[in-house]
Order: sequence, then structure tokens, then C-alpha cells
Amino acid sequence: MQDQPKAKPFRSSSFFKDGLSSRQPVEGTIARGWLREDKELYTGKKTTTSPSAAAPLTSAIAPTGPTATTPNANASPSQVAAAYPDDVEKFPFPITEEILNRGQERFQIYCSVCHGMTGQGDGMIVRRGFRKPPSYHEQRLREAPVGHFFDVVSNGWGAMPSYASQVPVRDRWAIIGYIRALQLSQAGAQPATQTSGDRK
Ligand code: HEC
Repeated sequence: MQDQPKAKPFRSSSFFKDGLSSRQPVEGTIARGWLREDKELYTGKKTTTSPSAAAPLTSAIAPTGPTATTPNANASPSQVAAAYPDDVEKFPFPITEEILNRGQERFQIYCSVCHGMTGQGDGMIVRRGFRKPPSYHEQRLREAPVGHFFDVVSNGWGAMPSYASQVPVRDRWAIIGYIRALQLSQAGAQPATQTSGDRK
């Protein structure tokens, strides 16, 4: 028992030609539980990419300046759609009431601190000096495909860090469902909400 001929982790070995005691996994090996076959669910990107998908980000969507309003906040719908050619426009699974409730809860935990409870970009961290995010109720973000929101949460955007490690994939979609609900709730009252409240 004392002298078992076993390989200890990371210890070299003269048994194999490459001197490693452990074998490399077969190419294409996927760890159990990590199969990500559903591209739309896991990346928010369309399965079939359009020819323009590889085009660089246009100024219509690039993160900008120190203020909340992006220069092209009022880009036309076609411009907005063209700015996110490979982002999915539909949720990868049905958004039920239960999922919306989950999204509301997760939004209030992870996003409202900066984006505010209604998505105006007036969260407490912003009131204490963090960069003010754009309102979810500006035209560009009302028209942006859901895949863009997924991209922002998963990979970060400008000053906003990625929330991929805090928010699992399905919860990200639930949050986006809730953001869509917030957008609908404010859609009719745009001029009033733009001027009221404690903005900086
Ligand atoms: C620490 C503060 C902070 C938190 C928390 C935060 N964000 Fe942001 N978010 C920002 C800032 C700042 C920007 C603007 C970034 C820029 O333009 O540089 C932004 C931008 C965005 C945008 C707009 C991207 C665009 O196209 O302009 C979306 C959508 C967004 N955040 C979603 C979320 C969601 C969903 C969550 C919760 C999972 C979240 N954010 C949490 C700070 C935050």
C-alpha cells in the first residue's frame, strides 16, 4: 500500500512519451453538464449569421461619452436593427408569468442598483457617482433585439462589467423579459418620465 505505482496529479511520468502522467482529453471533449448545443440560448446570437455579422460595431451602438445619452439615441428603427445583425430578436424559451417574477427579483438584486427600479438609469450607485447608464426607455434600447441585452449582461458593455458569473443563463433571459415589461410600462409616458425625477 505504501508504494503504489499510481500517478499523482501533475507529477511527471516516464511511462508515456510526452512525460505527462495524465492523458489529454480527446479533442472535442465536453465536461459533463457543459454541453452548449443551443447557441441562441447560450449566446443570444442567431444560429445562421448574416453576411454583415462580422462587420465592426457601428457608432450607432458603441458605448460612448460620460453622459447618459448616446449620440444616436434617436437612430431610426432600421438603423437600430442593422446595428445588431446577429443578435436574436426572440427569446429562446417562452416567458411565463413565473419567469417574469423571477426576472423582476433578479433585476432588483443585480441591476437596479445602477439602472434604477424602473430602468431610468438612476440607481443608488449612480446617485453616488458611478457612470449613469442609458435609460432602457430610450428609443434605441426599446428597439434593440433581446440578444443585445443578453450580450451586454454576459460580456459587459463599456463601463458596465459582465454579470455572467453572478447571473446564470436562464436568469439573464428572465431579467431581459422583465426589462421588456418595464419598457412596455413606460412606453406611453416617455416625455413625462424624461423630465421628472432626480436626474443629474
Ligand atoms: C455597477 C452598475 C451597473 C450594474 C449593476 C448593471 N449595469 Fe448595465 N450599465 C451600466 C452602465 C454604466 C452602462 C453604460 C455603459 C457604457 O455605455 O459605458 C450600462 C449599460 C447597460 C445596457 C445598455 C447597453 C447599450 O446598448 O447601451 C444594458 C441593456 C444594461 N446595462 C443591462 C444591465 C442588466 C440587465 C443588468 C443586471 C444584470 C445591469 N445592466 C447591471 C451599469 C450597470
